[in-house]
Amino acid sequence: MGQLDGKVVLLTGASRGIGLAIAKTLGEQGARLILVARHRGPLEQAAAQVPGALLTLPIDVTKPSDVKRLFATVQKRVHRLDVLINNAGVFTFKPFVRTTLDDWRRNLETNLTSLFLTTQAALPMLRRSHGDVVNILSISSRVSFPNCSAYSASKFGAIGLTDVLRKELRALGIRVTAILPGMTNTRMKKEFDSPVAAQDLLQPEDVAAAVRSALEQPRRATVEEIMLLPSGGAIRAKK
Ligand SMILES: NC(=O)c1ccc[n+]([C@@H]2O[C@H](COP(=O)([O-])OP(=O)(O)OC[C@H]3O[C@@H](n4cnc5c(N)ncnc54)[C@H](OP(=O)(O)O)[C@@H]3O)[C@@H](O)[C@H]2O)c1
Repeated sequence: MGQLDGKVVLLTGASRGIGLAIAKTLGEQGARLILVARHRGPLEQAAAQVPGALLTLPIDVTKPSDVKRLFATVQKRVHRLDVLINNAGVFTFKPFVRTTLDDWRRNLETNLTSLFLTTQAALPMLRRSHGDVVNILSISSRVSFPNCSAYSASKFGAIGLTDVLRKELRALGIRVTAILPGMTNTRMKKEFDSPVAAQDLLQPEDVAAAVRSALEQPRRATVEEIMLLPSGGAIRAKK
């Protein structure tokens, strides 16, 4: 029996990368997982690897009507929610002059506006469970890198929102945690030519272990922020 036994966790961006690793890690600790991403096929393949997968819901977290439907389904079919993990994200690597309005909107809507939508929709259930919100942010929430204008804007905004939510929601008994990984060995890293060998970057399992450790703290303790970086250091962007 794990420390998260029976906890109902809704995880966005669950079909691959960091999200899939979080799902497996929490599932191994007894959590019951509601897995969300846009594409049904990869999501179902992911669910087959996750102990404790309860539901797969293919929705787009940028669409208000999808998010509304998602939480209505959870309320109707599961009746409770203990943990919301906002992990779905996109990344654009381009000089600012070539960044299109579409790039800008995609980053802002996926990495920031979705947190507004999901967190507001989850609140009625999280209030009842005195639950947790965990936002997977980035080193790019604190440090800016060239060629990442849309991503940085979204992730800086997301940490601002996360900090405000922590202060507002503590009165409701809801804990809010920010996880800030550095470069992690997922599909997203293909944008970079890294001097660090793939095995020396963070692995998705490392980020998942940080999420697990935050959730396993006693209720009196909140892990406000974890910044987790590759020990080998910085990255070099592709020309
Ligand atoms: N990899 C890194 O170096 C790194 C570093 C720091 C922070 N992060 C953050 O970690 C999180 C996960 O990144 P990752 O590297 O694991 O990315 P990834 O491998 O590209 O996975 C992204 C996940 O998000 C889902 N997704 C994307 N847009 C969505 C939308 N509109 N609605 C619902 N689901 C959506 C994708 O599935 P569908 O395409 O099927 O929707 C997929 O499951 C992101 O927030 C990212 O910013 C990553």
